[in-house]
Formats: sequence, structure tokens, C-alpha cells
Amino acid sequence: MLSGSDFLSVQDLEKREVLELFRRAAAFKRKPLGTCLRHKTIAMLFAKPSTRTRVSFEVAISHLGGRDIYLSAGDLQVSRGESLGDTARVLSRYVDGIVARLFKHEDLLALAEYAAIPVINGLTDLLHPCQALADLFTIQETFRKLRGIRVAYIGDGNNNVTHSLMHACTLLGVDLTIACPDGYQPLERVSREALQNARSSGAELRIVQDPREAVKGADVVYTDTWVSMGEEAEAREREQAFRGYQVNSRLLGYARKQVKVMHDLPAHRGKEITSEVMDGPASLIFQQAENRLHVEKALLSLIYG
Ligand code: CP
Ligand code: NVA
Repeated sequence: MLSGSDFLSVQDLEKREVLELFRRAAAFKRKPLGTCLRHKTIAMLFAKPSTRTRVSFEVAISHLGGRDIYLSAGDLQVSRGESLGDTARVLSRYVDGIVARLFKHEDLLALAEYAAIPVINGLTDLLHPCQALADLFTIQETFRKLRGIRVAYIGDGNNNVTHSLMHACTLLGVDLTIACPDGYQPLERVSREALQNARSSGAELRIVQDPREAVKGADVVYTDTWVSMGEEAEAREREQAFRGYQVNSRLLGYARKQVKVMHDLPAHRGKEITSEVMDGPASLIFQQAENRLHVEKALLSLIYG
């Protein structure tokens, strides 16, 4: 159960816990305030930039009666070599939880190991589980069901957003097809975990190369940046590799007529997605961004309730 625990991966949750979380998220969307963080302080330890994760968590914490302290990793002694373990041990004596955005997933695991308080993954190079929860909540809200929905993910398969989406879709029985170029497939370990989930939920997971094949019959087409934070040095090579993977109206022509489009943001308009699609009637993108707030309140209420 989530109460008092870390949330580092979608794999930390059972299906029924996610469904309870979605029920709470819908309730917070109707009635935004709560009290579960009264007299509690949450540290926001960020080593990478953030708009949505930072602001949605800060607002969520405040709406639940708590307060947050934003800690840019560059301002902490970790920037001078203090270990994350020692940082976690010290923070545990001051605050009630840590939302962390780090580069290496192993660093997050070290932080969680030494922290005596709950640690929430606000994104690592490997996973972005809070994003995936908000994404699946958005799909449920839009289609009024999860089972039988078909999602096509177009772009970088070896990516934090893709990996957590694989965990979440397969846990909840949503069919997922990923179209990515050779050399950008999801990490083998994540594929194995997702296939294991799929065996229990009945979801279908496919990895293909052709984006048209992936979007055929899709209810949702999802994409993310081709160049994630920390990959800037590979930008040119990646833009070359992902040419042909843009989500545009031509590609959507191969999907269902009522297809919806998702993107975790920030988007690079004209690269992985066109402005026409982002701002068009199929876009769930800003509803999806809003839902980060409601879903994070639900998550905090399960951990601290
Ligand atoms: N989607 C997302 O996590 O956005 P930020 O990087 O702005 O937090
Ligand atoms: N894959 C992107 C997600 C940003 C929210 C990145 O890691 O930069």
C-alpha cells in the first residue's frame, strides 16, 4: 500500500491502488482543497528544470494544507560533492517528504534508500511515473473507460515518459503500440516488466518501426520530445533519426476519425508535433497538463492520508 511509502515507479502500485487514486483525483478536480498535509513540509529537490512538475506539486501541497521548500540541486552541498545519502538523512530530520527530479535513476534509489520519509519520483532519465498516472487518468476521463483503448506512442522509445507509459498502460489493460526508429527502442528491462503486467491485465504491447502502422486504429496518439533533458549533445543526430516520426495531420489521417492527441510537454512545435495538431480539436494536451495537479493531490493523499 502507498501509505507512508515511496513512489518511484508505476510498478510500485497495484491496479486497484491506481483506480482508487483516479477516484480521488476526480474528487479533487471537483473539490480542490484538503488537509492531509497540515503542518507538513515537502522538499522539492530538483536537478533539472521543470514547469509542470514543480508548479503542480507546489500548488497541490499548498491546497492540501502543507508547504514546500524548493531546493535546486545546484544550490545544495550535493553540488560540492556531499552524497545524496547524507543529504537524504539530513532532510529526513527536517521535512516530511521529498519530491525529487534527478538525472540517474540510481541516484533516486540511493536517495530513497537513505531517506526515512517518503520519496516521490518527479522524473529521472529512466522513468516519469507521475506523468503516466496523469496520462492514464486523462484517458479514463476522456473515454470513460480504459480497457480496450488503443494508444500509439510515436518517437523515442528509450525515454522516461515512454517507459512509465508502458508500465501504466499494461497495468491498466490499455493496448499500447510504440513506433520508434532502430536504436531507440525501450529498455529491455522495462519491456519485460510491461509484458509481465500485460499478461495479467490482458493488454497488448507492440513495438514497431512504422508510425503509420502504430496509429492504425488508435484512439490516442502520444508523443514526447526527441531530445530529453541531458541528451542535448545528441540533438542533431536525434533529429535526423526521428525524421518521419512527427505527429502531424497527415499521420493522424491513418488513425481513427475521433483520435485524440497527447504530449507530456514541453513540446518542440514543428519537431515532434505540429502546432496545427497541438492546438487542434484532437488535442488533450492542456487537459493532460492540468490533470497533473489533481493526480498529484490524489497521490499525496494516499501517501499522507
Ligand atoms: N511534463 C513535465 O514533467 O513537465 P516539466 O518538465 O515542466 O515538469
Ligand atoms: N522526456 C522528457 C520529459 C520532460 C517532461 C525529458 O526527460 O526531458
